[in-house]
Amino acid sequence: MTKLAVITGASAGLGAEFARQLRAMGYELLVVARRRERLEGMGGEIWVADLSVEEEVERLARHLEGRGDVAMLVNNAGFGTQGRLAATEWEPQMAMHRLHVLATLRLTRAVLPQMIARGAGAIVNVSSVAGFARAAGNVSYCATKAWTNAFSEGLWLELRGTGVTVQALCPGFTYTEFHDVLGVDRRKHAPWLWMTAEFVVGESLRNLGKVYVVPGWRYKVFLALWTKLPAWLRLRAEFERIRK
Ligand SMILES: NC(=O)c1ccc[n+]([C@@H]2O[C@H](COP(=O)([O-])OP(=O)(O)OC[C@H]3O[C@@H](n4cnc5c(N)ncnc54)[C@H](OP(=O)(O)O)[C@@H]3O)[C@@H](O)[C@H]2O)c1
Repeated sequence: MTKLAVITGASAGLGAEFARQLRAMGYELLVVARRRERLEGMGGEIWVADLSVEEEVERLARHLEGRGDVAMLVNNAGFGTQGRLAATEWEPQMAMHRLHVLATLRLTRAVLPQMIARGAGAIVNVSSVAGFARAAGNVSYCATKAWTNAFSEGLWLELRGTGVTVQALCPGFTYTEFHDVLGVDRRKHAPWLWMTAEFVVGESLRNLGKVYVVPGWRYKVFLALWTKLPAWLRLRAEFERIRK
């Protein structure tokens, strides 16, 4: 039987790197994104879809339910927005929730029964260190990634002993097209905080089975300290930062 890896958002950045590394590990690929031309030549089955559209998610979910050979699902497709909620456009906020939350939920539900029946499989949900943060101007992004973390933790509990693993991959700044799409250049501010997609994806795949993977020791130390603080102190620190 083929070992199929399904990767959403495979046309760029972390998704393209997941495709490259999983292919080298012997997986067959089903690569998903909106830009067909970017998926061509990746050596996998191409599935063009806008996963912020419910009908397109449903079409992919039914396809995955029907084929039964999904060994790995990487829920990776994502994007950021800028601006405070009251002032920002409504549609991208909705699209972000549909993509980060609802598509992840539906596609995971689609592949779980076959993985559990086989006693093997892996789900990687690409979250972010932002899932542990709350930030003015980034409300929906932090909230949807916090959902990804909670979803992955709950699922990890449900899947114990089934042979199926789930991981919330929580990268910090990574060189991809994410910030170009967002229209900001943060690379100059703290170059020592940036990681390559190759490193981040390598950390994920080396650590399948762990519920949280936080690539890079700087981010590990930061989160270990940050998550120990009470909520009021974390909010206070963010408030003081944006007041400057
Ligand atoms: N880069 C970072 O610093 C960083 C840090 C933490 C977490 N992350 C997370 O990492 C994941 C991957 O992002 P990246 O950094 O690799 O960014 P990227 O280079 O911009 O890639 C984003 C991918 O998502 C796809 N995508 C976006 N909207 C989509 C939609 N509506 N339907 C289907 N596919 C869609 C894009 O493909 P098309 O445009 O072709 O559809 C592209 O393949 C995201 O979940 C992001 O939140 C990134």
